[in-house]
Amino acid sequence: MRVCVYPGSFDPVTNGHADIVKRSAKLFDKVIVAVGNNSAKNYSFSIEERLKLLEIALKEYDNVEIVPFNGLLVNFMRQKNAYTIVKGLRAISDYEYELQMALLNKYQSPEIETLFMMSDINYSYLSSSAVKEIARNGGRIEGLVPDSIKDSIYEKFAL
Ligand code: PNS
Repeated sequence: MRVCVYPGSFDPVTNGHADIVKRSAKLFDKVIVAVGNNSAKNYSFSIEERLKLLEIALKEYDNVEIVPFNGLLVNFMRQKNAYTIVKGLRAISDYEYELQMALLNKYQSPEIETLFMMSDINYSYLSSSAVKEIARNGGRIEGLVPDSIKDSIYEKFAL
């Protein structure tokens, strides 16, 4: 069974993330969406909220599993018997950070490969931070996040 892990903070999930899941779900038998929960990070959405939004946004895929993790990604992957990481790559600015992560993960676990999938051109400018800033200020997030979670995001930032 070909399994991949798509890790991220998903704070919150965007259409860019959903597109990577959709494409990965065609290439792999199972996609594990691994939701990072690092106590040193300041998330806007709690782990419960991030998981819930992902469940709603990705409910159409029957080969996608959404699982929280903390600690090192490679340890989580070993527990899951998964050896392929999928990451989305947007602009050049993502490259340096992603290269560092991929090399450090490889250093920890040489048997684990990282595969990069180029972002769809429509989402190459999109980030969770930008979505939050727009929503917080009452801007338009239609088309940037799955329709099914749009209202929950506005509600989160309602004054
Ligand atoms: O959405 P993000 O912020 O790009 O997601 C980052 C995430 C969760 C994929 C990354 O922080 C991660 O893998 N954290 C676990 C800790 C780890 O294994 N780090 C790799 C060595 S630097």
